[in-house]
Amino acid sequence: MTTGGPAPSVYGRVAELAAERERTGLIRSADPAARPVRIDLASNDYLGLSRDRQVVGAGRTALIRAGTGARASRVARGTHDEHADAERALTALTGQESALLLSSGYLANLAAVTALADADTLIVSDQHVHASLIDAARLARGTVAVFPHQDVDAATALLRDRTQPRAVLLVESVYSVLGDAAPLRELADACRAYDALLLVDEAHGIGVVGEGRGLVHESGLAGDPYVVVTATLSKALGAQGGAVLGPARLREHLVNTARPFIFDTGLAPVAAAAAGRAARLVAADPTLAAGVALVASRLCERLREHGRGIPALEAMRPSTGAVQSVPMPSAAVAAEVAARLVEDGIDVGCFRPPSVPDGISRLRLTARATLTDDQIDEAAARLAEHLRPHSLAECACPAGSNAEKLHDARSRPEQPDASGGADR
Ligand SMILES: Cc1ncc(COP(=O)(O)O)c(C=O)c1O
Repeated sequence: MTTGGPAPSVYGRVAELAAERERTGLIRSADPAARPVRIDLASNDYLGLSRDRQVVGAGRTALIRAGTGARASRVARGTHDEHADAERALTALTGQESALLLSSGYLANLAAVTALADADTLIVSDQHVHASLIDAARLARGTVAVFPHQDVDAATALLRDRTQPRAVLLVESVYSVLGDAAPLRELADACRAYDALLLVDEAHGIGVVGEGRGLVHESGLAGDPYVVVTATLSKALGAQGGAVLGPARLREHLVNTARPFIFDTGLAPVAAAAAGRAARLVAADPTLAAGVALVASRLCERLREHGRGIPALEAMRPSTGAVQSVPMPSAAVAAEVAARLVEDGIDVGCFRPPSVPDGISRLRLTARATLTDDQIDEAAARLAEHLRPHSLAECACPAGSNAEKLHDARSRPEQPDASGGADR
């Protein structure tokens, strides 16, 4: 239906931005790919639990028992048995004293950071943290200082030299686009030395690293008073929702102050029940997480084999979790290789500016435990085939533009840019 009359000028700006996306080729779509996906290296169901019989069964039981939604905020009538049960399962899995479920991992980050940091808090953030942590830092209204990716010395200096009485350090355990693991012990030591809190987003660690208990647990930091964990239930746990894990006094503080918890309808009990069952399965069976490591190592091996002569593929080594990151010579090549793969029925993640804070476009391959050897081999062969012509034209590795961009990114001002941060 058209309403007639001129549109407000806001739509003028919307049109300008659409034209800019068209010009730069940086268009996103929420619609399914036209071609069916045969080989999925893009989704985050790392262990295949979203279709596990027991996980689906737990969801179905909750659906019948509690209905389709939570019906209210958790602080009103929206808390159900499924929430308490999933929170127990998550504390048992991660070794934390308490857990609080929220309706997404995004909101878990907003809740944790805004409840823990105020205008007198310095928020120190790794350059590559997820967009939800960047947004959380903005919302918290503290001063934000960004340090180069994984640079413990730079993070330590920011904590040490601060003028604010309090500080919170934001990192991911396994980085969502790069796939590398944070040096959590060193970062926790720095926080202890300079009386700061370390907030670790375990979105890509739980279910995958440290026999599925996460990198914080594997690093011996579970229950450490200087460490807070956030998590999503939508990746390895195959459900939906998020959680903040840490000391019981943190949970109590969040229930009373965290606006994304208080002013939001509780997580649907069906999702809580599915995630709770998934967490119990992971805790009971360490071989689940081992399946991801096996696929990751096969994938890198095949990429190296098929990618002889292509520097970016020859350099592939399995990273700590499911996320395997392949640097591309340019955003255009990343988009083209990803599109050619879709034509082959293979779906991979494609990250281009502004989703990559260092300006280096990447394909992200998720080494899901359920991928077969044939699927891994086919995906690696096709990727190498589509990348090879570009690799000969523009070197994807150190001496080229990527290295320069990395350097530029490290010397950028210390404030996250509006478009910065990883997407997933
Ligand atoms: C590192 C990281 N944190 C938080 C989130 C947000 O989690 P959710 O999808 O549950 O909102 C994601 C991904 O979506 C992520 O990759």
